[in-house]
Amino acid sequence: MKNTKSYLILALDVKTLPEAIELVEQTKDYVGYYKVGKEILNSVGLPTVLRALKERDVAVFVDVKEADIPNTVMNAVVAAARHGADIINIHAFGGMEMMRKTVQAAKAENPNVKIIAVSVLTSLGDSDMRDIGCMYSAETEVWKLAKLAKDAGLDGLVCSAKELQAVRQIMGEDAFIITPGIRPAWDAKKNDQKRVMTPRDAIVNGTDTMVVGRSITKNEEHNPTEAAKLIYEEIAAALDEPKVETPTLNDIFVERLLEAGVVKTGDFTLKNGTKSPIYINVRDLPRHHGALSMAIYMMTTKIAKKNPEFDRVGGVPMGALSIANMLSFACGKSILTLREQAKDHGLVGTKTVEGFEPEEKVLVIEDVATSGGSIREAVEKYRFLGLQVENACVVVDRQQGAEAMLKELGVELLSLITLEEIVEALYKRDDIDETMKQSIRDYMMTA
Ligand code: C5P
Repeated sequence: MKNTKSYLILALDVKTLPEAIELVEQTKDYVGYYKVGKEILNSVGLPTVLRALKERDVAVFVDVKEADIPNTVMNAVVAAARHGADIINIHAFGGMEMMRKTVQAAKAENPNVKIIAVSVLTSLGDSDMRDIGCMYSAETEVWKLAKLAKDAGLDGLVCSAKELQAVRQIMGEDAFIITPGIRPAWDAKKNDQKRVMTPRDAIVNGTDTMVVGRSITKNEEHNPTEAAKLIYEEIAAALDEPKVETPTLNDIFVERLLEAGVVKTGDFTLKNGTKSPIYINVRDLPRHHGALSMAIYMMTTKIAKKNPEFDRVGGVPMGALSIANMLSFACGKSILTLREQAKDHGLVGTKTVEGFEPEEKVLVIEDVATSGGSIREAVEKYRFLGLQVENACVVVDRQQGAEAMLKELGVELLSLITLEEIVEALYKRDDIDETMKQSIRDYMMTA
């Protein structure tokens, strides 16, 4: 059982040692860790700061967000661990080797030190991500870096309250998740924090600890001791409350599809002529960068997990072509474009596909699978030309026969989400009325 103090980290955002020590003396009955950042470390020096804090028998989080070549980061982090740091953070975008080497060397120095990843800085938005050459949205990039940090053996991640639940799903129950951007309800000042969460909410949403700065150090109504005590008590009370159920990544993805309007409810006629109260317009996905990023990232992880052998990515025309193109870019396998009709210009011939080597393996990409007829047509065209197809991947499987039919053709169908998962999310929504929910239930009974 963790003690209540360990849920609270105080950010010592000050320049001098006496100021830092005064704050420690005022709050140490309620605070588990003290966070020292570049401001004080560059002013006073890491050995001096750590010695002073360790003399007071408190745990220290060295917030230096290291990022450099593996050897340099490893040595810098080992030095901080040697001086007694209890938590040290490094940038996940430094890459797998940097993280792995660093965590191994730091644990050899001190087995109890926690090495924590920083993912996407909360000051960066989607347009900043594009400027620095990231194809994914900031939210999806956090998911990607959380996975990388976990695979590298890091202990956890610093993330905003908004990302907490997804990061928990990705990194698991044992991960140590640190949440900044905390404001108690009694502190009206958000300062420069845009999205904030109360200590209580951070706890019930499953954080392991939280960083608080100005609500304790610069509050107008409470001195640091009182403010730290109030937050400590709020945390203690929240620890007795039940935790909020963590949504799965699929739940979050379905939420994004609903927000993007990719999933629609109403009265629709599907391509196969049947009626449906749900229409999934994945063609709309490219208009919504956040949901699109998530779809592409989820496809790459699904594919990596299944690990099918493939040389080329092939989209089923026309709806899936943009998704196939982006997936090809994300997983570094070139696209093989299938034409609906053979060409009657340029290199005229019977080919519906150009630019491939015989026997190459194609991973077929489709947006929605219902009966699977369009995927079968594409598989047959590829195979007719001597290409091999063993796997197909779809964003949504409407579970109306595609999987079984493709299996008979020797093609395994991977899907990101099923109609059932979408429907489960729709039932939980308040903006869908009971009559519609009932039509969906009736449809699911008969579909
Ligand atoms: O509570 P307050 O806003 O004063 O806390 C600020 C502290 O939390 C700073 O030390 C800052 O570096 C850190 N932090 C943050 N937001 C992040 C990551 C860290 O405010 N996303």
